[in-house]
Amino acid sequence: MAMSELAEKIAGLKKERSALILVHNYQTLDVQEVGDFVGDSLELARKATAAGAGMIVFCGVRFMAETAKILNPDSKVLIPRPDATCPMADMITADDLSALKRSHPGAVVCSYVNTNADVKAESDICCTSANAVGVVESIEGGPVIFTPDRNLASFVDRSVDVEIIPYDGYCYVHDRFKAADVIEAKMAHPDAVVLVHPECRPEVVDLADEVLSTSGMLRYARESSARVFLVATEEGLLERMGREMPDKVFLSPGSARFCYNMKKIRLEDVYRSLRDEVYEVTVDAETMERARVSLERMMAIGK
Ligand code: 13P
Ligand code: SF4
Repeated sequence: MAMSELAEKIAGLKKERSALILVHNYQTLDVQEVGDFVGDSLELARKATAAGAGMIVFCGVRFMAETAKILNPDSKVLIPRPDATCPMADMITADDLSALKRSHPGAVVCSYVNTNADVKAESDICCTSANAVGVVESIEGGPVIFTPDRNLASFVDRSVDVEIIPYDGYCYVHDRFKAADVIEAKMAHPDAVVLVHPECRPEVVDLADEVLSTSGMLRYARESSARVFLVATEEGLLERMGREMPDKVFLSPGSARFCYNMKKIRLEDVYRSLRDEVYEVTVDAETMERARVSLERMMAIGK
């Protein structure tokens, strides 16, 4: 089936099912185009909360769809590919976190949303890349166990006074950006603005003009008078930036980085998801209740 035909069929089914399609910034442009909303993890969690939709088709990795389900227990939440999971989220289990809590009694647990629901349920509060510093600043007391991303933990650690106990997880996409690649790209484009996602290594963060979530990068580039940007994040966002701002140049330092887990979702999968109402995301009731407390504490901070 041709792409435009598929997009038309998706639009028809979406209307028929009264479904909302939420899409993460790392999805391919054809999938972004059929979305009702394209954004970063925090924006998508907020859209999901406000949705009240009977059906949500979530084009992103599983923890994002799970978050939408936890925040909308009465909605049917579908993910077009059941194997679109985030390897960083899978680096920590609820048992790993319980063991860490036992070795640091009295610590508060802040978990990145890039975790599975049972880890959120074991946590006190969640955060995203857009609000991690604000969330940790809001915590009274400490120390703070920060899971699972060691690089985001290090970024937060620089900005807060409280002791941070990091978990040793990482994102295989962002952890591969090298400081040398940023330095070389900056030499070739001395006027470029360097935008870095906080999942990158500390030595890459050190070279940033701005450290931002994916949608934070998009907003920054829209408002900036600069013409060239070195953007250390996944390629889907650079594609979105290039399409929305054709007069500006967006380059990945070193080679382009792809999240193959995000990219598993193709337009055909979105169509099948709506047509056959697959694959439904479920979370057991007790885990869902406990995980919702951590997510709602984050949402209440409003940063
Ligand atoms: P954002 O919330 O910044 O979109 O990041 C999500 C993510 O998984 C980055 O790898
Ligand atoms: Fe997970 Fe990294 Fe992919 Fe984001 S880019 S979904 S953190 S593997």
